[in-house]
Amino acid sequence: MKEIKTIEFKEDILYLIDQRKLPISYQIFECRTYKDVDFAIKDMVVRGAPAIGAAAAYGVVLAAKEFSNDNKEEFLFNMNEALELLNKSRPTAVNLMWAIKRMKKLIAENKDSAVKDIYKKIKKEADLILIEDIQTNKKMGQIGNEIVGNKSTILTHCNTGALATAGFGTALGVVREAFYSGKDIFVYADETRPRLQGGRLTAWELVQEGIPAKLIADNAAATLIRDGKIDLILVGADRIALNGDTANKIGTFMLSVLAKEYNVPFYIVAPTTTIDFDIETGNQIDIEERDSKEVTYIENIRIAPEGIEVYNPAFDVTPNENITGIITERGIVKPPFKENILKLK
Ligand code: MRU
Repeated sequence: MKEIKTIEFKEDILYLIDQRKLPISYQIFECRTYKDVDFAIKDMVVRGAPAIGAAAAYGVVLAAKEFSNDNKEEFLFNMNEALELLNKSRPTAVNLMWAIKRMKKLIAENKDSAVKDIYKKIKKEADLILIEDIQTNKKMGQIGNEIVGNKSTILTHCNTGALATAGFGTALGVVREAFYSGKDIFVYADETRPRLQGGRLTAWELVQEGIPAKLIADNAAATLIRDGKIDLILVGADRIALNGDTANKIGTFMLSVLAKEYNVPFYIVAPTTTIDFDIETGNQIDIEERDSKEVTYIENIRIAPEGIEVYNPAFDVTPNENITGIITERGIVKPPFKENILKLK
């Protein structure tokens, strides 16, 4: 299995695989300050819910380093500013807020310690977030593999692999596990307009691993599903409400409707850190709208006429009734979702 180091922290520098550049070139983006991390998340150098959470945690480490010569009062004030900035770098994936909340709690619990000791604790916590995410993904891979038939054709959306996490992946982690456990699997990867995470990133990971796959335009999914060519749909999540409604990459909802119509099992694969226990339904999820240029340009080439207006939501919400189950590191959650999600709290 190829190791993809999406996020690596060494000697006060956060190294990120620059996901804006793949697969044309493999470049590493260096973050030396928390503001670099804020930029990297906003500009999608790093993306994918768990990866954003882990990167933000290291953003907090870089902030703590930057302010390590401050007196305690200044340190706590400046850290608060940094935490607030990072918390707002993208709005939908709750793993980001989860990681920031975890760091805030740690700082509050240690506010009476020396600044250098708080820094050490913050660094340790970020390392833990990274390690835990990889372990969680491997566990989800094993649990998820139980629902994958020995010969299965799986449809995926967006990128939910090692690049979207600290390593291994969520939905693509299940695909990895199924493949390496010897199952005869075939993947159809949606290219995922407008940012093409499927075409650029998932396809890259699949090729790296030698997993049999075909890349499809998003528009081709309906025909494959109708024609009985898809056994299973596996997607990730950016935020799951208590009732199971799930925000994920734009286009996921459309797939879920097709899955329901043609009786194809539709599973969300997400760590429990993606569950927002504070919201009842998907209506409460803030859906990010991104720059119109993501739709009107491909690279630097304008593909739509000047003057056209654009609607570009980055995510949509799949209603719980379209979801067969949610694969987490603590088991597969089935309906009734609210009752069963609350057991994970
Ligand atoms: O805009 P992105 O690329 O950050 O969106 C990512 C997704 O929607 C993924 O499907 C989701 O984060 C789950 S991946 C582990």
